[in-house]
Amino acid sequence: MAQNSATYKSFVILGNNDSLSPWIIDALAKQPGVTTLIILSRSTLSSASSKPLPSPAKLVQADYDNHDSLVQILKEHATDVVISTVGQTVITDTQKKAASAAKEAGVKLFFPPEYGVVTYRLGGKGQGFMSEKDEFSDESDLIELPYARVFTGIWLRWIPWLTGLDANGKINILKGKGDTPISTTAEEDISGFIAYVCTNLSPSELANARFRLEGERLTAKQIASRLNKPVEYVDIIHGEASEVRTTVATECEHGAGSTGWNHDLNGDNDPNGPEGAGSGNRFWKGHVWKKIEDVLQL
Ligand SMILES: NC(=O)c1ccc[n+]([C@@H]2O[C@H](COP(=O)([O-])OP(=O)(O)OC[C@H]3O[C@@H](n4cnc5c(N)ncnc54)[C@H](OP(=O)(O)O)[C@@H]3O)[C@@H](O)[C@H]2O)c1
Repeated sequence: MAQNSATYKSFVILGNNDSLSPWIIDALAKQPGVTTLIILSRSTLSSASSKPLPSPAKLVQADYDNHDSLVQILKEHATDVVISTVGQTVITDTQKKAASAAKEAGVKLFFPPEYGVVTYRLGGKGQGFMSEKDEFSDESDLIELPYARVFTGIWLRWIPWLTGLDANGKINILKGKGDTPISTTAEEDISGFIAYVCTNLSPSELANARFRLEGERLTAKQIASRLNKPVEYVDIIHGEASEVRTTVATECEHGAGSTGWNHDLNGDNDPNGPEGAGSGNRFWKGHVWKKIEDVLQL
């Protein structure tokens, strides 16, 4: 793509952490047409990564409680797109403040930190696991800030966490379960997708879009077999934050780990329809999505 034909050129990433933001920074730095890349962090002292930031990325300190300064930073860099990677616990606080500043600064597209199971129509009324993510989109509608939601299922590098492999060297499967397909996607594919669509799709294709990605669709039993690991049938998934792991595993075994999940139907959308699992993959033309073995060498 010619440098000047990119849909959006100036990006701000919220959060400098060791999970998704380094992948998004890398993907945007490599993406033709991206001219400005600012990473907003509460601290510019401690970088999550010892790697220097790739050009044109720059780290800028953010005070989410100072609305005027946030607006100023976004305006100063003529920001087209804000990509939020803030943690789930601050969605109703920090992220709301950032969205309000983005609206005032004339930002054209906001990515809330979805990047997981489908939260669309999860409740938005304080009900259901991760419902605050759905509530955020209601608020973005209210302030008329265009946003794009990216559902990815489980990140491939988080499979050892979800299955408790990191705790006991086994794929731990809830008793009587293990046969439900789960969408999984590599972190570099999630990030590459965002960089690609923001520079190649039209503003109307991006505004208020729901992208349902799926690198690979795998059951817990298939994960064990593909990684060549023993299986243990358990009542809870062990390891740090065992309760959260067990909740996510339970949701996945119910079917809600599929990016085709429809909370109204309590089932999957038509796999060949526009909202089926992996339906968003089609927007990244020609891309070969990573498989579990490409990412996890255990
Ligand atoms: N599908 C999956 O497998 C999977 C796995 C993990 C996470 N996720 C999703 O990815 C998203 C990000 O999760 P995460 O685990 O990466 O988040 P996290 O580590 O908890 O937080 C990410 C960043 O939020 C920023 N932040 C801004 N204001 C903050 C505040 N008041 N308190 C704490 N942090 C603040 C921090 O960046 P600065 O310090 O630079 O300001 C922090 O590094 C979530 O939506 C989560 O559900 C999905």
